Amino acid sequence: MALVTTKKMFEKAYKGKYAIGAFNVNNMEIIQGIVEGARAQKSPVILQASKGALKYIGPRYLKAMVDAAVADTGIDIALHLDHGPDLNTVKICIENGFTSVMFDGSRYDYEENVRKTREVVKYAHACGVVVEAELGVLAGVEDNVQSNMNIYTDPDQAVDFVNSTDVDSLAIAIGTSHGAFKFPVNFKPQLKFDILEKIQSKLPGFPIVLHGASAVDPDTIEVCNKYGAKIAGAKGIPVEMLRKASSMAVCKINMDTDLRLAMTAGIRKVLVEKPSEIDPRKYLGAGRNLIKELVEKKIGGVLGSSNTL
Ligand code: G3H
Ligand code: 13P
Ligand code: ZN
Repeated sequence: MALVTTKKMFEKAYKGKYAIGAFNVNNMEIIQGIVEGARAQKSPVILQASKGALKYIGPRYLKAMVDAAVADTGIDIALHLDHGPDLNTVKICIENGFTSVMFDGSRYDYEENVRKTREVVKYAHACGVVVEAELGVLAGVEDNVQSNMNIYTDPDQAVDFVNSTDVDSLAIAIGTSHGAFKFPVNFKPQLKFDILEKIQSKLPGFPIVLHGASAVDPDTIEVCNKYGAKIAGAKGIPVEMLRKASSMAVCKINMDTDLRLAMTAGIRKVLVEKPSEIDPRKYLGAGRNLIKELVEKKIGGVLGSSNTL
């Protein structure tokens, strides 16, 4: 068993009208929680690391842990660079065995984004690695990008971008947003399905990616706050919209914030209920359990990728 690229995963997901979960990893417990959740649901999964995560774990440690996860579970796993800011970071990841990379050139003007993405695609494809790029700007905070507004992806530009870069998948902006505070509390989130439909009809069979897709579950926030957190005004993407997107051209859905909230809820509960607890396995293990539960719920209830191995 080895790591896989996302190519076959996406082909199957597109035809089967479901999406693959791409979950951000930052330590061993997060990796184990995600992978155990995916295994229980008999689903492939994408483990993704941001530049910040790579700095925290180190690419060699990360690869070794992910290799162990593949060997232990036997499920299809892709290891992906999330929001790669430049070719150098992409090269480091590929040298360390990543099977998929994102180059996020959304902060550049269109021509520069095309030029830099094409350069990354050329390098990655020569190494057998697939590339995700981004067109449009998501509200919220991206690595190296800060924006208060959405610049929705233009469908005609998406076609030109895909044809000009030979990229393998494309992250688009249709109203999702990074982080826990995606919208003002009274705002009614609405994804732009008309844009997604247009892109799908102009690029039939081409895999689309949604970033910033955490649901930011109020019950999890309540647990965090009950055990001492101070999180107010958080709001995420309604799950029924993600379910609909999964049945369309969206083949990869990114979630990080929901994992952070689950981990935080698990750890806080143990530390507050048992103030004398000093064994990290007890509180980190509780966080890991909640991540497994969360990933199972996402796969079964949102992404629709259960039993697709
Ligand atoms: O989209 C960004 C991800 O949530 C990663 O966040 O850069 O803090 O690791 P990070
Ligand atoms: P969330 O902040 O909504 O979890 O999005 C994560 C993401 O898009 C990682 O690339
Ligand atoms: Zn993202």
